[in-house]
Amino acid sequence: MVTVDTAVAGARLRDVRNGMTIPPALTLKTVLDASYRPAWWFNFLTHEPLTFASLSRYTGTVADLINSMFDPTLTFEDLDWLRETWKGKLVVKGIQTVEDARKVVDHGADGIVLSNHGGRQLDRAPIPFHLLPEVAAALKADNSEAAIILDTGIMSGADIVAALALGADFTLIGRAYLYGLMAGGRAGVDRTLQILEKDMARTMALLGVSKISELTPDHVRLLAR
Ligand SMILES: Cc1cc2nc3c(=O)[nH]c(=O)nc-3n(C[C@H](O)[C@H](O)[C@H](O)COP(=O)(O)O)c2cc1C
Repeated sequence: MVTVDTAVAGARLRDVRNGMTIPPALTLKTVLDASYRPAWWFNFLTHEPLTFASLSRYTGTVADLINSMFDPTLTFEDLDWLRETWKGKLVVKGIQTVEDARKVVDHGADGIVLSNHGGRQLDRAPIPFHLLPEVAAALKADNSEAAIILDTGIMSGADIVAALALGADFTLIGRAYLYGLMAGGRAGVDRTLQILEKDMARTMALLGVSKISELTPDHVRLLAR
């Protein structure tokens, strides 16, 4: 999967305001925030320090890291090179227009991820869910078999059902599983998936649908903007 919406880091204002750095820094505000949470302090003082396994050799903000890691000059020619070099499935993540969806499939992508990176990259970028019907129609008109994957804002099973009904093959989750992870470690991630699955089953039952293949765009009403 190659992500194309991160040419440079977006303005991650919350990270700046919260002083989110690698490694995490203890500021007066974080100390005050935690001061009335004795269980947190106990854990903090009795366990090994928190580290990011994949970022242990890096210090700075996440935005600085992105800007040092990514090449902002990425073009469709680079995608062609990748297509030639990589014989496995190739998926392009961060598609935000119908035209780009068609174009990356023409350049050999096996799938596209409609995503605006959770709104943390280009501010005011289109909402992927709103783009989905048009992209599904365009790829169908092209007789394309490319997978359409929806990412951004999936927080419930009903969100997944709505995306599948509008033509997504499947969806991704970014923050939802991380919330489970923060709350309960691995068991928390399993619980997140259970909650999503149960919500999907309930939503489908309420729609009178027993199989995912029975979902159609008629099951969704997009609110007029
Ligand atoms: C902690 C964190 C790390 C992420 N790292 C990446 C990454 O390395 N590559 C990428 O393409 N997207 C990354 N994303 C973006 C997610 O894949 C996803 O596009 C975004 O969070 C929107 O989905 P959501 O609304 O389900 O969170 C990251 C998101 C989070 C929260």
